[in-house]
Amino acid sequence: MKILNMGNKRLASEYAAIEIIKQVTEHPQTTLGLATGDTMLEVYPDLIDLINLNQTDLSEVHTFNLDEYVGLGEGDKDSYHTYMHENLFNHNSSWGKEHIHVPNGKAEDISREIKDYEAQLEAEGPVDIQLLGIGENGHIGFNEPGASFESKTRVVDLTESTINANKVHFERTEDMPTQAISMGLGSIMSAKRIILLAFGDKKANAIQQLIEGKVSEELPASILHQHDNVEILVDDTIYQQLDWSKSQG
Ligand code: F6R
Repeated sequence: MKILNMGNKRLASEYAAIEIIKQVTEHPQTTLGLATGDTMLEVYPDLIDLINLNQTDLSEVHTFNLDEYVGLGEGDKDSYHTYMHENLFNHNSSWGKEHIHVPNGKAEDISREIKDYEAQLEAEGPVDIQLLGIGENGHIGFNEPGASFESKTRVVDLTESTINANKVHFERTEDMPTQAISMGLGSIMSAKRIILLAFGDKKANAIQQLIEGKVSEELPASILHQHDNVEILVDDTIYQQLDWSKSQG
């Protein structure tokens, strides 16, 4: 696992976007694992610029998003489906609509939806580059502390920490769902390459715990120590707070 101080969100976002454009240019049949949230808000505009500058054909690129709130989906302002379309997919017409996968939180049969999602991920994977953010509590995807390292796509209960961090995005905070469909830790680990981005004071504690090296289901992101191609991109705010004397390597 490499920890890189990128100085700021700007440079880290550009780096992530460049790695993705290189991947899809060299391998048009790429499968991408995508994340939402504030952390990704500068990655996607950079990626859109690079796609447009290079007139990249995305028709054979497959994408899988990490998660979606239960009860939300297409047409809902606060859904991750809407986030992804507004921030990325609507900005280029070459995305093959049938290759874009965001779990449907409004599916009538959620257990079927989960099974189908995992099956599609297996069929169209492995993911070549997986983008990740991290929760203040160390979650990746919506795999909250205690999630099994073997977990696959499923419905999860969101913790108070996650609800508090994310409810600010909802017009009425009480509308924030308490459950989500999330790709599992096992599913995330099958990606060939993982780029995790983390910015700002609020994430410093999770990154500190991560560098301490203890692999435990209490810190879901710690599973990344078992992957051999992970980059953790942080800003200087986080980097300056890290106590390397507690790091195991
Ligand atoms: C989002 C996701 C989450 C976020 C994490 C950080 O698809 O899977 O793990 O990456 O909650 O959220 P932000 O970026 O809003 O701080």
